[in-house]
Amino acid sequence: MRRSADIVVIGSGAAGLSAALGLAATRNILLVSAGSGSTPWAQGGIAAAYGDDDPFDHAHDTEIAGAGFCDPRNVRALVEEGPQRLAELIALGARFDRDSDGSLSRTLEGGHDRHRVVHAGGDASGAEVHRALHQAVQLAGVRTVTGRAVGLIKSGSGHIAGVLVEEDADVSQIDARAVVLATGGIGNAYLASTNPSTVRGDGIALALQAGASLVDMEFVQFHPTALFTGDSTGQLPLVTEAVRGEGAVLRDLRGRRIMTDVHPRADLAPRDIVARAIESTMRRDGCEHVWLDARSIPEDTIRRRFPTVLASCRRIGVDMLSEPIPVAPAEHFLCGGIRTNRDGATDVPGLYAVGEAAGGGVHGANRLASNSLLEGLVFGRRVATALTLDLPAESYGQPSWLTLGEDREPDRIRAILTEHAGIRRDGAGLQTALDELESAGDGPLATVARTVVAAAITREDSRGCHWRSDHPRTDERWNRHLVIRLDEEGRPAVRQLLHSAAT
Ligand code: FAD
Ligand code: SIN
Repeated sequence: MRRSADIVVIGSGAAGLSAALGLAATRNILLVSAGSGSTPWAQGGIAAAYGDDDPFDHAHDTEIAGAGFCDPRNVRALVEEGPQRLAELIALGARFDRDSDGSLSRTLEGGHDRHRVVHAGGDASGAEVHRALHQAVQLAGVRTVTGRAVGLIKSGSGHIAGVLVEEDADVSQIDARAVVLATGGIGNAYLASTNPSTVRGDGIALALQAGASLVDMEFVQFHPTALFTGDSTGQLPLVTEAVRGEGAVLRDLRGRRIMTDVHPRADLAPRDIVARAIESTMRRDGCEHVWLDARSIPEDTIRRRFPTVLASCRRIGVDMLSEPIPVAPAEHFLCGGIRTNRDGATDVPGLYAVGEAAGGGVHGANRLASNSLLEGLVFGRRVATALTLDLPAESYGQPSWLTLGEDREPDRIRAILTEHAGIRRDGAGLQTALDELESAGDGPLATVARTVVAAAITREDSRGCHWRSDHPRTDERWNRHLVIRLDEEGRPAVRQLLHSAAT
């Protein structure tokens, strides 16, 4: 089957739906999706500074969490445009939790200096955001295709000219002037993640294959508190940071507080710091989890604010009202991704990226809690605005079909990445990973794994969520972003780009 559109948006999370909605009135678009991604699973909420809060303070917290490695101009766009995007979401019908005076309830999460995170259904924020956006996209009459994008079409002039989509057993072609990759992160490249199985780095592999650059791929964020279920594979239930925001504390298996001596914000330190402290505690004590003690939170608060977490705990036989919760860190979010400018443009004409798939620089070396849904809303709209103003020039010349290859033994790839590119890394382990990945095929998981490892082995310092035990300090000489492209032999070639803190 062959179809055409002005623009194809791939992915139906917060980023893809926002982009599609912003384009629906002006362009002929097609939304391609392999199913729902991380968005409906989001718990904590959306960070937005409005009213008595100041976007400048939100930017400051974002920069601190990002270990000073964020792109300040993009952060400014995030925090300044965020409240307007949130208001529009509410106008679309998204129902956020409100206090008794009618104002939006705002909670606290790690790395924030104040209550700034709006939430819905207690801890079911993502489901409500997804519901409202999805409904609006349907009402706007956006054509959708259920299937998996497995290739990009590139014209002889170097422009992206369309997408190949696997629908059931068939591969169809969609011709387009622009393609927006909103395919989410890379959770499925690890043995265990908080992400669902649809999130497997396809868009990142497609972009790389089409000649686009990736950036900051070494910064893989681990959420400190995934529920320890005894089976550390596949999608793990999350215990939102907001539980700590309401007063829960982390304890080792002997009941001692973990975070009090580690950081002035203790249990609400930025996520990378908390995850590292838990990892060190587990390594020291030779155990597979620590405790999150939420028993100080009043029962009615838990029932109202954390129904999802309460139910997840119940499913493994834990009553969080009266018992501590077993938790351990798990892969959660990719801070880098496909290198873009502030309007989502990659360095390949006609190819755009947005949301978690994109490396737009807003997260630096570690993402601030609840900045990701916001990123999808803000940059989804920005990409839509850019493509409303201008469609890329029509392409010409003989097209080529750039299809995803095959992963050999996906579980081996996941095991390699999990063992050597987790919270704690070192040069020897990363070299082993590179060698072992040689024979892993050229599918999306292998491609993503190689780029994470190539970046992590190159960066010989520690910052944000990249922690090298053989280079444990932050070294100013590494104030450089690592940009990856494929060389002629199809291997990731890493180049360094000086970090600019200029506003
Ligand atoms: P996703 O929502 O992951 O969507 C990706 C889309 O791409 C999906 O539709 C998928 O099917 C599609 N796709 C992928 N590959 C293909 C392909 N080849 N072809 C077609 N379609 C494809 N962030 C916050 O800000 N606040 C929170 O409270 C929060 N809580 C979280 C809790 C959990 C459990 C998780 C997993 C994440 C959480 N995050 C949170 C992070 C946030 O949810 C994600 O980063 C964000 O939703 C990503 O949105 P996205 O639109 O970029 O991608
Ligand atoms: C959480 O609720 O802890 C997750 C928030 C996020 O990933 O931003």
